[in-house]
Amino acid sequence: FNFPETFSRPALFDFEGVSMINFFTDNWENIQNFKARPDDILVATYPKAGTTWVSYILDLLYFGNTAPERQTDLPIYMRVPFLEAVIPGLPSGVELADSLCTTPRLIKTHLPVQLVPKSFWEQNCRVVYVARNAKDNAVSYFHFDRMNMGQPDPVDWSTDLQKFKDGKKVFGPWYDHVCGYWEKKHTYSNIHYMFFEDMVEDTGREVERLCSFLGLSTPTEERDRITKGVHFDAMKQNNMINYSTVPLMDFKISPFMRKGKVGDWKNHFTVAQNEQFDEHYKQRMKNTTLQFRTQI
Ligand code: A3P
Repeated sequence: FNFPETFSRPALFDFEGVSMINFFTDNWENIQNFKARPDDILVATYPKAGTTWVSYILDLLYFGNTAPERQTDLPIYMRVPFLEAVIPGLPSGVELADSLCTTPRLIKTHLPVQLVPKSFWEQNCRVVYVARNAKDNAVSYFHFDRMNMGQPDPVDWSTDLQKFKDGKKVFGPWYDHVCGYWEKKHTYSNIHYMFFEDMVEDTGREVERLCSFLGLSTPTEERDRITKGVHFDAMKQNNMINYSTVPLMDFKISPFMRKGKVGDWKNHFTVAQNEQFDEHYKQRMKNTTLQFRTQI
């Protein structure tokens, strides 16, 4: 990192109808013109839904055995470029992705489905989408924005929860994001839609389902090894995975691998906040078949 000494949190603005910050729009032309390859795998999520977890699983499935130095020397954000990111002191996500010489390329995005570069669809790339229930997602995003100086200031929990409901978090409304990719499945079959709650409930089963989507015949023992390796505690300890190398993040405020639980929202929502949230949620989600679990 070649990180600027003075830094202030970025401002939120409307970008093509979505709340954004300049770190994800500055490179827009190159992002939209990005040339995907047919074997690229796009990991798409709303922020804090389990992006790093699934990225690491994919990385181990494809490169766990063949490239040991990748595991010891290369942080996850270098292995799986964040397509739309232009972070001070780092090559842009597009530059990183273009420079990858592995096959397949694993590429991460938080863009809502309508803003994904069209090349991914034209090349019929595989898309792995991870969704997390709104309440835990909102809590995780709040703590992330507290500790990440590259994000707008969340102020306090109740202010931030209101922003979440209003779609004023970076990458826009959670509701449109999860529903957008869910609906996309009707017209584009190469999406594997996963749930954070299912991964917590039975990681091994989800790894197996992922392999079957990807057409991988990874042996059971290997899958078991990966399942153990991606346990929350193992990832939290792993400096190549836990984002401890990113100077923008202040782990004294909150670690990147924070709790990794389903249902932590119960420690944050007041009874009133919960009732109001449920009411608003019902309205926002009334036209979808998509269902989430807020506890397991
Ligand atoms: P919490 O803040 O609730 O702990 P992303 O990678 O999309 O930014 O998501 C981060 C969230 O996923 C954090 O949630 C993090 O702890 C959780 N997470 C990451 N790896 C995990 C794992 N192996 N098991 C459970 N949760 C995990």
